Amino acid sequence: MFTNRVLSGMRPTGALHLGHYHGVLKNWLRLQHEYECLFFVADWHALTTHYDTPAQIEQHVWDMVIDWLAAGVDPAHATLFIQSQVPAHAELHLLLSMITPLPWLERVPTYKDQQEKLTDKDLSTYGFLGYPLLQSADILIYRASQVPVGEDQVPHIEFTREIARRFNHMFGREPGFEQKAEQAVKKLGSRRARLYRELRTKFQEQGDTAALEAGRALLEDTQNLTMGDRERLFGYLEGGGKMILAEPHALLTEASKMPGLDGQKMSKSYNNTIGLREDPETVTRKIRTMPTDPARVKRTDPGEPEKCPVWQLHQIYSDDKTRKWVQVGCRTAGIGCLECKQPVIDGVLAELKPIRERAEHYLNDPTLVRNIVADGGEKARKLAHETLRDVRQAMGLGYS
Ligand code: TRP
Ligand code: SF4
Repeated sequence: MFTNRVLSGMRPTGALHLGHYHGVLKNWLRLQHEYECLFFVADWHALTTHYDTPAQIEQHVWDMVIDWLAAGVDPAHATLFIQSQVPAHAELHLLLSMITPLPWLERVPTYKDQQEKLTDKDLSTYGFLGYPLLQSADILIYRASQVPVGEDQVPHIEFTREIARRFNHMFGREPGFEQKAEQAVKKLGSRRARLYRELRTKFQEQGDTAALEAGRALLEDTQNLTMGDRERLFGYLEGGGKMILAEPHALLTEASKMPGLDGQKMSKSYNNTIGLREDPETVTRKIRTMPTDPARVKRTDPGEPEKCPVWQLHQIYSDDKTRKWVQVGCRTAGIGCLECKQPVIDGVLAELKPIRERAEHYLNDPTLVRNIVADGGEKARKLAHETLRDVRQAMGLGYS
């Protein structure tokens, strides 16, 4: 019920760049070895804002999946899939929409922000208003406990927690809950039952959250419980009804420190990116033509690294010795800018080489990529159906 599951999604924006790599993907690479991970392409979310350019979506989806794989996301460790291939997300979205107060959606900060920013689009649509609820469905359908996201997405996770709480509150109160929960406690066996009761009292009477955590851990490693009893015991521990949907936590991804070619944050909209699959010649040319400290007009003019975007790249790609060399060389006009850029070029090319090689492998074998995503979709559908079954039942749709 309470899982150690990590889930994250990305809208398909096409081929990824070093900003995505340093910001999001490296984080995923680490998580895939520590948790059960599900990573998906949020293609329905793309349609909420890009419904007028459907022709691009497919290419963007495959480019993005290839970049995930090329960066090292490993289908043997993580489940990769496409949102629209798991229709259960849509069913949960619909069912949750029944209990979602409109004002909750209207006050999610991205709603007004995006409408104001993307003025060339009509975003006064039902689908766009429901964006955060669709995201909630994405998360809740897997009972994910951790959701790696950037700062801008934290309100969506908060919103998801509120929806889960509201759902559990409204639908977790089955008739005879207390008696059923008490019977379930007995099934824990006398030693565990005693411990469970102690922890429950500690939490409910003294608000001891460590006791709550310990209680949850106890339930997590109790094996011979039915799904229904397990849910009851989780809910009974906290004092609410049956816990059907789990409240997720945001796992804050530090904002990418990857600067773009002009010193601003690397972003497609600033046109200052280095793509993960760009060829070495293009990458070299891009770095060689990067702006430097504007005070260095002639080779003999001294410069100031703090005023130069190249220096920011040295912070990521160079060791102490090289950085010292830059600082001294720049300030005394001892080195030229092209000379200074070379270690950065070498560093970026070395980082991109294995990524490009892996990408090549997947580009040459599109069936392989499709199979990876098909397998992931199948796994995801199975997991999603477990939750959906409980949700349908709780909402009175348990027939069949
Ligand atoms: N809204 C997220 C973004 O724009 C993408 C997303 C959709 C997502 N569903 C999700 C992220 C579920 C995490 C979990 O970046
Ligand atoms: Fe920038 Fe290096 Fe040129 Fe100094 S020497 S201005 S740090 S590129």
